[in-house]
Amino acid sequence: MKASLKELETLLEEKHKEVVAFVMEPLMQGAAGMIAQAAGYISRVRELTKKYNVLLIFDEVATGFGRTGKMFASDHENVTPDLLTVAKGISGGYLPLAATLTTEEIYNAFLGGYEELKTFFHGHTYTANPLACAASIASLGLFEKNHILDELSLKIDWMKNRLKRFHDLEIVGDVRQQGTMIGIELVKDRRSKASFPWERENWSSGDYEST
Ligand SMILES: Cc1ncc(COP(=O)(O)O)c(C=O)c1O
Repeated sequence: MKASLKELETLLEEKHKEVVAFVMEPLMQGAAGMIAQAAGYISRVRELTKKYNVLLIFDEVATGFGRTGKMFASDHENVTPDLLTVAKGISGGYLPLAATLTTEEIYNAFLGGYEELKTFFHGHTYTANPLACAASIASLGLFEKNHILDELSLKIDWMKNRLKRFHDLEIVGDVRQQGTMIGIELVKDRRSKASFPWERENWSSGDYEST
């Protein structure tokens, strides 16, 4: 964690005049391989981005809406990004919807009469689709009605317990968990952490059946 933050600080120190924003998935970097960040990491990133006047964008498309145990991953350290992107869990996945949230300051920077040319000319074909919005409002209503967040810690602990048995499997190199987001790293050799070959043709069905 220290090395990664040092690298970020060096980069910001050198390039902050050219860098507009820093984008990251807080707590658990999903598609990159379920890479978990240590406690304190996002707070330090917030400090550094403030220090160097670089906007902080949290992509909570995957981590948002309870996935890490709180409504947003940023809530774990009370960090407020300048921009927050959300999707997936906003509608419980029932209909496609995404949103970009920002501070009043940034919102107002783009607010003005048409002739002022302040508008951020960007949109999606189905932005604010009424059906998707209705599904999302209903889904968010269930968070309150069914106390979803309050019951999460029980479920997360249950998962943590059940995951223990994965550590004993020969092909499991590591198990990483942030709430209900879980990464199980499959390796060919758990001692060296060597990965399986990417080429499918090298696998023979049954090679790993016993595990
Ligand atoms: C973290 C993260 N960001 C962004 C996206 C893409 O989101 P969208 O499909 O809303 O563009 C995904 C999709 O899986 C994602 O996991």
